[in-house]
Amino acid sequence: MIRITGLSKEYQTNQGTFKAVREISLEIMQGEFCVLLGPSGCGKTTTLRCVAGLERPDAGEIVLEDTVVTGTSRNIFVPAEDRGLGMMFQSYAIWPHLDVFHNISLPLEHGRRRLSRSEIQDRVSTSLDLVRLSGLEKRRATELSGGQQQRVALARAFAGKPKVLLMDEPLSNLDAKLREEMRVEIKKITSRLGVTVLYVTHDQSEALVMADSVAVMSGGDILQRGAPEDLYSKPENLDVAEFLGNMNLFEGRKESGGIQGPHVVETAVGNFTCNSEREAAVGENIVLGIRPEDVRLYRDPPDADNALTVSVVHKQFLGNASIYELEKEGTRFFARFSPLHSSERPFGDTLFAVFEPSCLHLFRPRLSKPQAAVKEE
Ligand SMILES: Nc1ncnc2c1ncn2[C@@H]1O[C@H](COP(=O)(O)OP(=O)(O)O)[C@@H](O)[C@H]1O
Ligand SMILES: [Mg+2]
Repeated sequence: MIRITGLSKEYQTNQGTFKAVREISLEIMQGEFCVLLGPSGCGKTTTLRCVAGLERPDAGEIVLEDTVVTGTSRNIFVPAEDRGLGMMFQSYAIWPHLDVFHNISLPLEHGRRRLSRSEIQDRVSTSLDLVRLSGLEKRRATELSGGQQQRVALARAFAGKPKVLLMDEPLSNLDAKLREEMRVEIKKITSRLGVTVLYVTHDQSEALVMADSVAVMSGGDILQRGAPEDLYSKPENLDVAEFLGNMNLFEGRKESGGIQGPHVVETAVGNFTCNSEREAAVGENIVLGIRPEDVRLYRDPPDADNALTVSVVHKQFLGNASIYELEKEGTRFFARFSPLHSSERPFGDTLFAVFEPSCLHLFRPRLSKPQAAVKEE
């Protein structure tokens, strides 16, 4: 279990004080896999380093299992090596002059608790087994592939039998295929062991695939926290909507409808009815959003609400799906669909799009640009 309460961390820079983490709170249950997701510079690593004990926060409390390891108000600070954590970072620090066995056993031999030779032997072989590297004990670390080296780092993190595992972009140095494989593998192993994981990434698909719960960070704040499915289907604001998946956005103004909806919203591409549960008053500025996979396309005029004629600007065939870039009144947006048969693929330069009222998301416009909202890759 990890409980973070009111955590803040500031850095002094030549441009003054910079708040890297702003009073965040987060509770991660025993055995839960929680992913901190956000653009580069939003404070993910700083948060993780505070939990690890590698950084002293300016305010807040951190509890691991039942122990307060950081408590700024009571001046509690348990050093990193006494927190009993497993850690794995982006640079996975394999010792090139050691073989696989010693890469894993070294931290056990020098740990704060002395383990017997047979216990060490046992733990190394169990964790090599977990990452499917049994038999490679004597191999020098430099004679391993990148993926195997990553597995050694993983085995080392597991060998200490941690109850809590911290991982900071551990897969970002791997090529795409290996990365996808390792995501699933890490998830399987950690859930089998029942270890509590705090995992940092800027990669949204990694977050969606691995997480039991995701906390989306931006500018040192947690914007939204929840199961991946909930964040994807009910993003609370534009930042979360845009960071998790793709969303077509249309600025507009509420034209009519009750405060609790359905809302009729006027935009540059037409008027749309939106069944969002969110409240909005007539006259309010609003941004409507729809995910590309929710845009329905037809060859013939459909008998439906929220239909519009669109011209096809570009088609991208992805194998298992197609993405159409569409235009209406100078505004461009995207539709994604996976036809079962090629005959179901919409043809022609002019099509009809439908934004189903229940698929339209309603957002408040952004007040200002978020800090460092850089989407990597
Ligand atoms: N030691 C430091 N001194 C000054 N600024 C720092 C330091 N470490 C991190 N920062 C700043 O704090 C912000 C958050 O950094 P970090 O937690 O590493 O972000 P992330 O891991 O989300 O990319 C960044 O803007 C970064 O430049
Ligand atoms: Mg980082």
